[in-house]
Amino acid sequence: MQILVTGSRGQLGMELQSLAEHYSDYRFLFTDRASLDVTDGEAVRKFFKNQRIDCLINCAGHTGVDQAEADVESAHLVNAKAASHLAEASGKAGALMIHLSSDYVFDGKGCRPYTEGDSANPRSVYGKSKLDGELEVLFNAKRSVIFRTSWLYSSHGNNFLKSILRQASAKDELKVVYDQVGTPTYAQDLARTILDLLPAFPPRIRGEIYNYSNEGVASWYDFARAILEMKGSACRVIPVTTAEMPVVAARPHYSVLNKGRIKKDFGVQIPYWRDSLAKCLSEI
Ligand SMILES: NC(=O)c1ccc[n+]([C@@H]2O[C@H](COP(=O)([O-])OP(=O)(O)OC[C@H]3O[C@@H](n4cnc5c(N)ncnc54)[C@H](OP(=O)(O)O)[C@@H]3O)[C@@H](O)[C@H]2O)c1
Repeated sequence: MQILVTGSRGQLGMELQSLAEHYSDYRFLFTDRASLDVTDGEAVRKFFKNQRIDCLINCAGHTGVDQAEADVESAHLVNAKAASHLAEASGKAGALMIHLSSDYVFDGKGCRPYTEGDSANPRSVYGKSKLDGELEVLFNAKRSVIFRTSWLYSSHGNNFLKSILRQASAKDELKVVYDQVGTPTYAQDLARTILDLLPAFPPRIRGEIYNYSNEGVASWYDFARAILEMKGSACRVIPVTTAEMPVVAARPHYSVLNKGRIKKDFGVQIPYWRDSLAKCLSEI
C-alpha cells in the first residue's frame, strides 16, 4: 500500500514519520508545504496523476485557533478548500482518504462525551473551517474516514505541553484555565491507531467519522499540573477562568469525545492520558 502523508512536518505527520519503519507493508510518501501545497488544486491533481496513491493521510491543517479569527481566508483555504482538492483527487484515484478533524466542531455546551452523531455547532473560525473540511471530504471523497481528535501534543512541533515547559523554565507561576474540559491526546497514539486500522477498514468505507482521543478527562489546568508534576518543576499553576484570560477565539467549555464507536468496531485499546503524557515526556 502506497500512502501519501500531507503536512508531514506537523505533530501528527512527524509521529507518522517516526513510526513508518515499523510498518514495512506500507510505502510512504511524506510531503510538506514546500513539496505539496495542499491549497494548490493543480499541484494536488498533478501529484496524484504522477504517483500511484492507495491511501492519503491528510495531516495538513491551519491549527492556529486564535490566528484563524484574524485570518479567516487562510483557515478556510487549508482546512476546507484543500480538503476538497484532496478528496476529489483521492476519489479519482480510488484512494482511501483519512482526514483529521477536531473536537472544536462542537459548541461545548454539552455535559456528556460527544458521540459522532451529535450535532456540530462550532464557536470559532477554526472549528467552522474544520467542519467545512469534513463536509468536503464526506461529499467528494469516494472512500474516506474522518478522525475527530482533541488537544494533540507530541515531542515534535508546537503544542501546549511544550509551551508550558518553556514558560515554567522562565516563571515562578503560570495561570491556566480550568473551565475548558476535554482530553489531551498524544499524537503518537493517534498515529499508531490510524496505521493499525488501515487494513481493517472495509474497501467501500465512505464518510465514516470516528472519535479518537486518549482516555480520561482533564481541564487545561489539570494538564498543566500533570506536566509540571511529572517534570518535577517547582513552578506553580494558578487556576483561572477563560474570562480572565486574553484569548481571541471562543473555545468549547466541554469537548470530551466518546470513543465507544472506534472501540466497538475495531477493538481499539486507548491509553489513559496521564500514561501517554509520561511516555511523551520521557521522549522529550
Ligand atoms: N493540534 C491539535 O490540538 C488538534 C486537535 C484536534 C484536531 N487537530 C487536527 O489534526 C490535524 C493534525 O494536527 P497537528 O497538531 O499535527 O497540526 P500541526 O502540528 O499544526 O501541523 C500541521 C501541518 O500542516 C502543514 N500545512 C499548513 N498549510 C499547509 C499547506 N497549504 N500545504 C501543506 N501543508 C500545510 C503545516 O506546515 P507549516 O508548518 O509550514 O505551516 C504543518 O506542518 C489537523 O487537521 C488538525 O486540525 C489538531
